[in-house]
Amino acid sequence: MAKAQKIFTCSACGASSSKWSGRCEACGEWNTILEDAPLSSGPASKSLGGKRGASLKLTDLSTEEAPPPRTECGMRELDRVLGGGLVPGSAILVGGDPGIGKSTLLLQAAALFAQAGLPTIYVSGEEASAQVRMRAQRLGLTDAPVRLAAETNLRDIMTTLDAERPALAIIDSIQTMWADNVDSAPGSVSQVRAAAHELTTFAKKRGISVVLVGHVTKDGQIAGPRVVEHMVDTVLYFEGERGHQFRILRAVKNRFGPADEIGVFEMTGAGLSEVVNPSALFLSDREDPAPGSVVFAGIEGTRPVLVELQALVAPSPHSQPRRSVLGWDSGRLAMILAVLEARCGIPFAGLDVYLNVAGGMKISEPAADLAVAAALLSAREDASIPKDTVVFGEISLSGALRPVGQTENRLKEAQKLGFTSAIAPTRSKTGSGSGLNIQKMSDLTGFVGEIFGA
Ligand code: TYD
Ligand code: MG
Repeated sequence: MAKAQKIFTCSACGASSSKWSGRCEACGEWNTILEDAPLSSGPASKSLGGKRGASLKLTDLSTEEAPPPRTECGMRELDRVLGGGLVPGSAILVGGDPGIGKSTLLLQAAALFAQAGLPTIYVSGEEASAQVRMRAQRLGLTDAPVRLAAETNLRDIMTTLDAERPALAIIDSIQTMWADNVDSAPGSVSQVRAAAHELTTFAKKRGISVVLVGHVTKDGQIAGPRVVEHMVDTVLYFEGERGHQFRILRAVKNRFGPADEIGVFEMTGAGLSEVVNPSALFLSDREDPAPGSVVFAGIEGTRPVLVELQALVAPSPHSQPRRSVLGWDSGRLAMILAVLEARCGIPFAGLDVYLNVAGGMKISEPAADLAVAAALLSAREDASIPKDTVVFGEISLSGALRPVGQTENRLKEAQKLGFTSAIAPTRSKTGSGSGLNIQKMSDLTGFVGEIFGA
């Protein structure tokens, strides 16, 4: 018998090759190539040999038939991130660092969905049923009609699902699942891929919604191939900083709702509680206006969120000054420093720059540009921005300020939280009734002159 040929798969992008190398040629990542079980090729045959599937015309689909109703669990932060409740038969991946609170969140969600009338089963591959029960007790959920199973063998899980016919199955975690027809260890690329594939296709056929829990590796990727993300309808990340109580559930992909939607939770002694007004929470620790502190009026998904940006600028003892960013994009910071230097003549050479988004939030909007520039200048000039002012606007390479979307929502949220002024780009559509005093700026040089008198 011919020896089975070895296959190597990249755990970041899923590309396969016949030999091992330190760097994946497809995606360029280092140390991601792992040995994988070869796919069986099946008998060669001239005929395709498959079954003929059914196809229909788009116009044949009845428009009368209403889509099956979504189920809301009642935890509004979760329902919103799902796009307005759970879609029947959907597959969801929830990723996050170990210990961040995925099992806690999903056990709570399982209880709520079960109470809302969905037969729900929680399959744990990491804890025994007794341990899950203990956690449920701690969370005060012992009365919820959730079924528990401690199981890792995929075949057994699918038999259980087939017999019990739940409407929702939670699989915690996909890395502990094990398909006995795949010849490699649980948690390996091929096992994760096979388990995710089998579970999602099985669930789709039976109309069961599945939630797969996935641990994230140090560099922020779901361990196992990225392909798992392509197999599911919705990918949610559960994020948070250790030492902070806040947890953010972020939709990075959603076939049934807006991506980039966030839900904010707080980890308490009795599990996760939802935070209905995140702006108030993110700004609650704010002290008196300090140089380097600026409030940015941002939008996360469909919702305005105010966050504090903090900058520190100090003479650098190094020949290569430090640029350190938490919660924002370091490339974007470099761009803003370059624009400040080239267009406004304000150099940051020889200065260390630290930028932090308070509360462990991560911001990806370019609308934060102006707030970042304001925080940097405020820190550099040792001059504070008034405490009751919010800032937003995009900066272009020419130094011009560009208006950003949803200006009115940003202003409304600021007003709701007691802010009285805003600094925004000139062409912003501010509407009439925001009630804030709005200072409109057309370019960065004007902004620097007006606010810092430089
Ligand atoms: P867990 O849900 O087990 O994390 P994951 O499944 O993502 O690995 O959460 C574990 C952490 O949450 C642990 O450090 C303890 C903390 N925790 C609370 O603070 N309160 C609680 O009520 C529970 C159940 C956990
Ligand atoms: Mg867990």
